[in-house]
Amino acid sequence: MTEPDRPRHLGVCYYPEHWSEDQWAEDAARMVAIGLTYVRIGEFAWSRLEPEPGKMDWDWLDRAIAVLGGAGLQVVLGTPTATPPRWMLTRHSDMLAVDAQGRPRGFGSRRHYCFSHRGYREDCARIVTLLAERYGRNPHVAAWQTDNEYGCHDTTVSYSPSALTAFRNWLARKYQSPQALNRAWGNVFWSMEYASFEDIGLPNLTVTEANPAHVMDFRRFASDEVVSFNKLQTDIIRRYTDAPIAHNYMGRIVDFDHFDVGADLDIASWDSYPLGFLSDRLEADEAFKLRFLRQGHPDFQAFHHDLYRAVGRGRWWVMEQQPGPVNWAPYNPDPLPGMARLWAWEAFAHGAEAVCYFRWRQAPFAQEQMHAGLLRPDSAPAPAYHATEQVAGELKAMPLTDIAPAPVALVFDYPSAWAWSIQPQGKDFDYFRLAFAMYRGLRQLGLSVDILPASARDFTGYGLVLVPGLFTLPEGLAAALQASGAEIVAGPRTNSKTPDFSIPVPLPPALPGLDCRISRVESLPAAAPVPLAGGGAFVGWRERLEGTAETVIRAEDGTPAVVRSGRMTYVGGWPDEVALARILGEAAHRAGVTVTPMPEGVRQRDTKTHRFYFNYNPEPVVFNGNELPAAGVLWTPRTA
Ligand code: GAL
Repeated sequence: MTEPDRPRHLGVCYYPEHWSEDQWAEDAARMVAIGLTYVRIGEFAWSRLEPEPGKMDWDWLDRAIAVLGGAGLQVVLGTPTATPPRWMLTRHSDMLAVDAQGRPRGFGSRRHYCFSHRGYREDCARIVTLLAERYGRNPHVAAWQTDNEYGCHDTTVSYSPSALTAFRNWLARKYQSPQALNRAWGNVFWSMEYASFEDIGLPNLTVTEANPAHVMDFRRFASDEVVSFNKLQTDIIRRYTDAPIAHNYMGRIVDFDHFDVGADLDIASWDSYPLGFLSDRLEADEAFKLRFLRQGHPDFQAFHHDLYRAVGRGRWWVMEQQPGPVNWAPYNPDPLPGMARLWAWEAFAHGAEAVCYFRWRQAPFAQEQMHAGLLRPDSAPAPAYHATEQVAGELKAMPLTDIAPAPVALVFDYPSAWAWSIQPQGKDFDYFRLAFAMYRGLRQLGLSVDILPASARDFTGYGLVLVPGLFTLPEGLAAALQASGAEIVAGPRTNSKTPDFSIPVPLPPALPGLDCRISRVESLPAAAPVPLAGGGAFVGWRERLEGTAETVIRAEDGTPAVVRSGRMTYVGGWPDEVALARILGEAAHRAGVTVTPMPEGVRQRDTKTHRFYFNYNPEPVVFNGNELPAAGVLWTPRTA
């Protein structure tokens, strides 16, 4: 998958409402002077736009847009629906999301709304309409952002009365009759049968675990609520403008289907906080976390760049880029000098159209006062200010061309993440972790990767396609994979459930052309690996395989671990790094895809004209005859 040649830009997130108006012009002039193109504003400003119900105050935003635009910046205007003002709760006292313990979540921070609340949706439609009417044709408004970080602070799922009503309607539409639902869910088990949709509850506060099919439908419903909430806004905005619409997604948030939300948007964007993520959101041993403490995980950003390139169908941005220490992780170190530049170039080398730093000036007040910006609270430059200026200069000197087509694809599927969180079967089985481990294995072999949704049907150009842990393999996908001519590596757990969350018979994985059945699965603590003959091990998850497919790797106990027929390979366990390198290395070899084993912390990515090297290590590395600076990036023209 490639995208057309587009210019690359830098930007910044700015909150005019946080500063006195006489600072705006100087701020804008400095933004332009360091080479910024975009300024994102407005996404939390509802209390200033509508201080009292129905009493609008547009003047300040009119002026802010005029000042920023007049200075030569292009404005990305956010809808303010992530932060309903306090009066909104007086209007809709039941609009708060409710947590799994049945407690409403309070006012006093942000994202305090339930996606299913009809009254709140009406107010969102109203403010978005007013905003779009007023600024849709404003020449300075170049793009829009809906809301802010759907799902942030665990806000996708709500157990509110509004969610209950909407869920029952969703089920009635899906199943048409309670009998059909009972059959699909297997409700004969434990006498869970329902006589009416009105009897069905939300799957929280049950005595022991709820039926996985019930929870799975609830998760699908919750995701659909995010999709329709977002679409409500995009439908309105599009009536008033042709400017592209984005949303800013997050790292490792899988609670709603980003591909579904993305279908209604023009651009995917995400908020990249490499140091916060490493400390807060990633499994890794202490030594690794210490080594990359000030640089971030060498694969985590790239994974999301590749993922959101797919979500945006080729068009994607980094809407928020960490500029210095953040405030929200267990520890908040300062990035090494060089990282603000490396992170930006890594995004561009993966096809980003824009990288916007969060935020312009550090706010001395409220929740994020310890969060760095490009400027200190006293307006003096913070270190990332200079890095930004440097990247802007480099971009001018070397405008990037398209990314090169990747030889490898990885199928990533949000419903699979819900399924395995509902039924991990072993406490460490996490879908994101599995997909990320596979991605990492590919990158350790120096490969550029495309991430594709399970709805992908065109695999032209890929030598190798990975399909780990896919809950159900849609028939169309199975056929497309088989027809693709690519080497396919599937498993563990791929195609192991029906869409109704049951075990299919004939037994999984039922992959086209592969005679293999999983006769039993077991989950194991990490301290009890299953060693494989020839090196490496399965860790945490292991399947017993039967059938006539050729065994290509055995466990040391002699049982089949990896089997193959033709171009279809099935991996019956969770491979550790050594096993994964063997499996992927061999599959790449069979596919005729050249691999380049990479040193720790060094990654590469090709554009059509250049090879980029990213050195996440705190010391220089010599690789392929290139001296890669510590915490630095280097690019060389591609010869082939
Ligand atoms: C993001 C969010 C921003 C800001 C930032 C701090 O998740 O979108 O509004 O809170 O984190 O790192």
